Amino acid sequence: MTKTPEKIRDEVGDLRKRIEHHNHLYYTLGSPQIPDDDYDALMSRLIELERKHDLATPDSPSQRVGSAPADSEGFGEVKHELPMQSLDKVSDKQALFDFETRIGKRLQAAETETESDFELIADSTPDSTSDPTTAQLDYSCEPKIDGVAVSVLYRRGLLQRGATRGDGVTGEDITHNVRTVRNLPLHIPALKNTPQLEVRGEIFISKPGFAELNRRSEAEGGKTFVNPRNTAAGAVRQLDPAATARIPLQMYCYGVGFTEGFNLPDKLDEIFTLLESFNLPVNPDRAACKGVSACLDYCLDLLARRDRLDYEIDGAVIKLNSRTMQQTLGSNVRSPRWATAYKFPAEEKSTTVLDVQFQVGRTGTVTPVARLKPVFVGGVTVSNTTLHNMDEIERLGLRIGDRVIVRRAGDVIPKVVKVIEPEPEAKSKTKTKRKKITVPQKCPVCDAPVEQDGVLYKCTAGITCPAQRKESIRHFASRTAMDIEGLGEKLIEQLVDAGRLTSVKDIYTLKPDELADMERMGDKSAANLIAAIDKSRQTTLPRFLYSLGIREVGEATAQGLANHYGTLEAIAEADEDALEQVGDIGPIVAKHIAAFFANKGNQALIKALRKQGMEWPDIPVSQAAEKPLAGETWVLTGTLEQMTRNEAKARLTALGAKAAGSVSAKTHCVVAGPGAGSKLAKAEELGIEVIDEAAFLSRLKKLENT
Ligand code: IVH
Repeated sequence: MTKTPEKIRDEVGDLRKRIEHHNHLYYTLGSPQIPDDDYDALMSRLIELERKHDLATPDSPSQRVGSAPADSEGFGEVKHELPMQSLDKVSDKQALFDFETRIGKRLQAAETETESDFELIADSTPDSTSDPTTAQLDYSCEPKIDGVAVSVLYRRGLLQRGATRGDGVTGEDITHNVRTVRNLPLHIPALKNTPQLEVRGEIFISKPGFAELNRRSEAEGGKTFVNPRNTAAGAVRQLDPAATARIPLQMYCYGVGFTEGFNLPDKLDEIFTLLESFNLPVNPDRAACKGVSACLDYCLDLLARRDRLDYEIDGAVIKLNSRTMQQTLGSNVRSPRWATAYKFPAEEKSTTVLDVQFQVGRTGTVTPVARLKPVFVGGVTVSNTTLHNMDEIERLGLRIGDRVIVRRAGDVIPKVVKVIEPEPEAKSKTKTKRKKITVPQKCPVCDAPVEQDGVLYKCTAGITCPAQRKESIRHFASRTAMDIEGLGEKLIEQLVDAGRLTSVKDIYTLKPDELADMERMGDKSAANLIAAIDKSRQTTLPRFLYSLGIREVGEATAQGLANHYGTLEAIAEADEDALEQVGDIGPIVAKHIAAFFANKGNQALIKALRKQGMEWPDIPVSQAAEKPLAGETWVLTGTLEQMTRNEAKARLTALGAKAAGSVSAKTHCVVAGPGAGSKLAKAEELGIEVIDEAAFLSRLKKLENT
């Protein structure tokens, strides 16, 4: 018997309710009540009915696995109605107390101002309970989750728009991916009469969710993910929402942005309770604290519980509870004055050095790498890490078999920071004898002699060493160089070992059938690779220069050289003195560049690549005079998190600006990262434009593309 349309509608409605109920139990309350298979069966039935009878609606839970963004080429832009700011940081008790003193003073100054505005009696002494310098202020303290900041807009109770922070003013439209965040309601009935409510928060992957994701991915023969933060960031910016839906993204809301037709309570803790009543996820580990000492206790307690939390954190956030006071305090250029992040120290763990092996890089440097007993630190499992050079080994006094402390903060490469005494009982049990680390006399890959070059040791075989060959080909094909999709590490390894690739020029004579013979390659991937190789023949001068792998020439330097000289011939002819006139190029880099072009083998290589059809347009040098930042002086201060200071300087120089060390009336713009101090204060005093790193990056990108 076929069901009537009415019955089908009822079943769809019922399925939606049940699925949302189980989503809430699973993701918000953390207590699932049905097995995964049963849940999947409910979802499949819903999708089937919606598809068959054309009943899908944007608020259906089926849409979490939903459809691609309208513009599948990329993401649309979203202008934030209110800027999405970042936070100032403190990392010790004193700085936290200074934060409260600053707030207290400002609040008091504001109060005095208001009093005089209203011509209140000058001699009235404020009573101590309302005096913000002495009264204990109320704060909301929350874990600082290491995830991705997002804005989610509900219009009349429907999740209508999700956006990334972007540069704080403009973000990317990631609505299709935000719909896949499982603890976020797609529909909030209580808001059906509210024109707009924007919540802000952090999207992340829980520790158990991440472990499960990797277990599943491994079982399916897929790749394993390195850490939850980067996986979440990747998933949020994924173009295919079906791929995002496989990643167990969660969100905690930490604030409200823009609202229309909605009465917000004045107190942050009351706002959180209200959001919770809408089934919006709010972090249960938050706490209301009176006075900054209570906040400090909260931070220290959270730090002690850090390992036991279900999600990765890098600190705590302390916010003034009263919105009226928040508004009185306002913001400085990049962050509100009423909140601060209490940053936890980088995570450290102890482990054992099982062995030290030597790796050979693209330019022949023989680098010691410690093989460690795997240890979970700072959100990733670390089982090997570079020791940089022999001086570092000496500084640490490291031997094989030692117990060491490994530190990892944010995205920084894990580092062995010191050698420690083994536990007394472990001492007697340890069988591994401490073993001295010595540099191999011969290259571990090709057996050629190894020579010392300053603090480094180098394989003397050059490109004939397979390790150097593989690395230089990998660099040439990489995304930021020739961007040959499909020519990855494994394939390069096979092709070099088979004698089919002896240098990058051989890439251009590869044939589809010889590629198809390689492991894990089929006709289709071979054809795709040939197409990618073909495409790479049309390139740009900076990319080509960078892909050549000249020592010390990174992307920014390549760009600077290209802008300055305009043609490859002009660069090749320039002598060291001339090269030193270019942007960030110093004597050592100039020497490497000149030596590269003087080398006959390299000259032949460039000729051969040209013969294979590689071409790039010259850059009109007259443009140099019209560089977008010509004549401007910029200052970088505080920490940069997404690029090195040298890279930032090089990119500024390539655009015509001068990067200076101090702020003066002549400064055009200051880029201030966390920890910025006197330079930032001076810039504010002089009324000079100050931007944060995100805004800096987006401005660089825009200017570099013009
Ligand atoms: S409040 C205006 N609360 O930390 C204040 N931020 O540099 C906006 N974050 O980009 C942020 N957990 O993505 C706030 N409980 C929390 C947070 C939090 C993580 C992130 C946020 C922001 C960054 C601050």
